[in-house]
Amino acid sequence: FAYSALATVAAYLLGSLSFAVIVSRAMGLSDPRTYGSKNPGATNVLRSGSKAAAAVTLLLDAVKGWLPVALVLWFGKPYGLEEGTAALVGLAAFLGHLWPVFFRFVGGKGVATALGVLLGFSAWLGLAAGLVWLFVAVVFRYSSLASLVAAVCAPVIYLLGGGTLWYAESPIAVAMAVMAALLGWRHKENIQRLLAGTESKLGKKKAPEA
Ligand code: G3P
Repeated sequence: FAYSALATVAAYLLGSLSFAVIVSRAMGLSDPRTYGSKNPGATNVLRSGSKAAAAVTLLLDAVKGWLPVALVLWFGKPYGLEEGTAALVGLAAFLGHLWPVFFRFVGGKGVATALGVLLGFSAWLGLAAGLVWLFVAVVFRYSSLASLVAAVCAPVIYLLGGGTLWYAESPIAVAMAVMAALLGWRHKENIQRLLAGTESKLGKKKAPEA
């Protein structure tokens, strides 16, 4: 239990590194919490005009979700850490991104981090969810819509792949459901803008103030 608790706290701290803010600062760009959707995430960093900063943000925000899960699944066994702890650390990293202890608990929407966590659970699952995101993003050009559709599809893909929603058998399914629910809730303003037709599209340099 002690190892599991320790790993969970470490994953939360890692998740609390808001890379949109850190990378923007390191690259001399404005703070993503001050423009566009004001969201500290890769999509909003892209609105600064720097594709490189957005790509690095996406990568690092995903890695911080993937790493704790992968470490637990690869090296956890001798310490009694199994699937349950993998689900817990993935969720902890995701929660850290949403409520980062280092940034006054004001974090992002969790898309990149959730993708990393899914990749940690299963490379195929992460890849499939990533492809859903990409498909919707390319066709409709809304990052938020792509994130919402991918979040709904991920648990379905997991179930189709043989997962089960019964906790005792699959804590991973529970972690995925919690992440999808929180991710959806974090996008409530995006959903309103999508419905109103005022959501900013990908590929435009400057977004309207939101
Ligand atoms: O990465 C979050 C994305 O789904 C929406 O971001 O900045 O358009 O609210 P944003």
